[in-house]
Amino acid sequence: MKFFLDSAKIDEITYAINNWHIEGITTNPRHIMNSGITRGEFIKEIKKLVSGTSITVSVEVNPHLETKNDILKEAKILAAESENFVIKVPAFEQGLNAVYDLNQLGIKTNVTLVFNAVQAIQASKMGAYYISPFVGWREERGEMNINFVSDIVKIIKNYGFKTEVLIAAIRTAKQITEAAIAGADIVTAGFDVYKTAFENPFTDMGLKIFGDSWDKTKSD
Ligand code: E4P
Repeated sequence: MKFFLDSAKIDEITYAINNWHIEGITTNPRHIMNSGITRGEFIKEIKKLVSGTSITVSVEVNPHLETKNDILKEAKILAAESENFVIKVPAFEQGLNAVYDLNQLGIKTNVTLVFNAVQAIQASKMGAYYISPFVGWREERGEMNINFVSDIVKIIKNYGFKTEVLIAAIRTAKQITEAAIAGADIVTAGFDVYKTAFENPFTDMGLKIFGDSWDKTKSD
C-alpha cells in the first residue's frame, strides 16, 4: 500500500519526501488556503520539488466549475504544468463526464468527494486513475467505514478496473490499518497523522531500556 501526504505545506511535503519516502501528495483548495501561499506559488514550488521523481501530486480544479467543458479547459492547463500532476475532479455528473474525456486525452484524474460505492464504480468506468473515498468525513458524521472501503476495493477487483483506490481524509492510524486490511492501494493522511502513527511510546521505552543495558555492560 502506498502512503501519500495530504497537504499543501511545502515544508511538510519536503520533510515527508526526505524522511518517509512518501509516494504521492494530495491537495485540495482547503489545504492550499491553509498553506498560506497562493495557488500559483504552490504550483511553482511543488513542480520543482517532485520534478524527475515518480511522486504524483493531485491538484484540484476550481470547485465552482459546473460544466464539463469548463472543467476540461482547466484540467488541461493544470496537466500541462507537470508530468507529476494528477487532476482532481469532483464526483458529480459533469465532473465524471469530464473525467471520461480527460482519460481519452491521456490525462490522469483523481476523482474526489466519493461517498458511495456506485460513485466509485461510475468514476472507474469513466477512466479515473485514482478514486478518493473520504472516510474521515463519513466517520465524523456517524457512518461506519469497514464495509464502505472493503466493498469498493472488492468491486474494483471484481471488474478488473485499472483505477487505484486511494482512501482519503484519513484521521487516525486505525483508519490506515483498516484501509490496508481491506486491500486499498493507497492512503492519504495529514502530516500529524503519520507522525503519530509512525511513533510508539513502547518503542521509546524499549530504546531507553536497551540503551541503559548497553551502558551497564562491561566493555571488551
Ligand atoms: C484527499 O485527497 C483530500 O484532499 C482530503 O483527504 C480531504 O479531506 P480533508 O481536507 O478534510 O483532510
